[in-house]
Amino acid sequence: MYDEIQEIKAQYPRTRSAVLPALRIAQQRYGWLTPDALREVADALDETPAFCQSVASFYDMFHLAPVGRRLVEVCTNISCALVGAQQVLEAFEQELGIRAGETTDDGQVTLRALECAGGCGWGTVVAVDHRYREPVRPEDVPAIVQEVRDGG
Ligand code: FES
Repeated sequence: MYDEIQEIKAQYPRTRSAVLPALRIAQQRYGWLTPDALREVADALDETPAFCQSVASFYDMFHLAPVGRRLVEVCTNISCALVGAQQVLEAFEQELGIRAGETTDDGQVTLRALECAGGCGWGTVVAVDHRYREPVRPEDVPAIVQEVRDGG
């Protein structure tokens, strides 16, 4: 990972500018940004782990805790909220048997509430493994959960 980050670092005039792609590499490698992963990124960038964590904590796409094999994210920001995002989120909670921010007991699915996904005109936006479904209504949720459980 160190060498890969060095290559990316060389593409930027300032080392700090490489922090986002470096964090992405670490997350792909470890599944989430473990303390060790943050230390590795920091060492490769000559930064502190605290700096790397502060950047990672700002962005929804970085995970500072373990996540399931599949990731379901429901945008609950204002445009989606106005068209029923809370009901969609609650439908996922009911179908999956977990609350937002939790992972199913089998470690398969993590459900998260998401800040604006950038699809405000097509709410409620749901991202399954970063692929958008839009618009999603509460009645769509059982089929989506079934699909996720079936590996689709
Ligand atoms: S508010 Fe949901 S995509 Fe922007």
